Amino acid sequence: MAEKNKLQKNNFQKGSGTIILGIETSCDDTCAAVVKNGREILSNVISSQNEIHEKYGGVVPEIASRKHIEMIDIVIGEALFKAGIAPEKINMVAVTNRPGLLGSLLVGVGAAKAFSYYNQIPLIAINHLKAHIFANILANNEINFDIPDKYISLIVSGGHSSLYIVDENLTIKEIGHTVDDAVGEAFDKIARYLNLGYPGGPVIDRISKKADPHFIEFTRPMLESGDFNFSFSGIKTALIYRTKKYPELMKEENIPNLTASFQAAAVDVLIQKTIRACVKYKISKVLVSGGVAANSRLREEFMAAGDKHKIKIYIPPINLCMDNAAMVASLGYFEFRKGHLSNPDIDVYSRTDF
Ligand code: KG4
Ligand code: ZN
Repeated sequence: MAEKNKLQKNNFQKGSGTIILGIETSCDDTCAAVVKNGREILSNVISSQNEIHEKYGGVVPEIASRKHIEMIDIVIGEALFKAGIAPEKINMVAVTNRPGLLGSLLVGVGAAKAFSYYNQIPLIAINHLKAHIFANILANNEINFDIPDKYISLIVSGGHSSLYIVDENLTIKEIGHTVDDAVGEAFDKIARYLNLGYPGGPVIDRISKKADPHFIEFTRPMLESGDFNFSFSGIKTALIYRTKKYPELMKEENIPNLTASFQAAAVDVLIQKTIRACVKYKISKVLVSGGVAANSRLREEFMAAGDKHKIKIYIPPINLCMDNAAMVASLGYFEFRKGHLSNPDIDVYSRTDF
């Protein structure tokens, strides 16, 4: 604790504006960013490993952590260089330490600890999911956590599909989650089944654009349940069974119609449940985030639903939907403002609550 106080004191001697180095290595992207006062992105560097993992059809944890080790110094150096900021001008380091692949997280956390110790600046441990929510704050000045307010947050990524209520204290209460696959996982599994490559979301999004979303009307899972949970493995299984029963569906010209039909069903459920949550909890602002928030159908349909129900929908630009360190640095700033600094001995966790 004495160590933490010493670091805090040093930080306040450094003048106006808080410049945070964000580091993110929870899965297969090595990311570093420099963000000022939680909102102004000075640099945002992402080194993707997609090409490496593509041949395995998904992320191989051991390979991911080794690649992070190769890249982490380079990526941090590039983030500082692009921001035009010397290391000694950084006021704090924010790093993802949960949830994620342990070997991957350890690389980012190790680098962050070293940077923090060497420069004698505070360290802030960041929850990756919460950081996804904060991608919205980077993109929109209207979102203001300084005034009492409530938001429904939908996180849709490769590992999560959950609904939350977020308030101005950064408190996050889960109201629903997937009971099986995350929606991004379902995109990836269907793409793998159809030999479309990895990650599946962007390919399915692209090839579905001119296809027929009503080619197969998949049942919208759990729409009739009164809760806010999701299920996506059922749509995936239905698609697989259907193609096994009718092999002509696997003809090249039918593939985009299949993916468009799956995408329509998944998006439909996500939006309908989110809007219902707004109605039930009397909340009129929604923060959508996570890799699947890059999906063009989801973005369009959410905006239309928002207009219809007079609910304000916030979705970050596509580069901030994917894993990135700018969102980590941004959340770091708001955690710091709430006094949530970490001790230098932070650990990593594969799973976590907020
Ligand atoms: O948030 P993210 O970058 O990493 C995790 O924290 O999981 O999300 C990755 C997921 C992958 O499943 C990927 O297929 C999906 O986001 N994704 C998309 C799109 N872009 C990425 N899913 C649907 N449409 C997209 N355009
Ligand atoms: Zn993520």
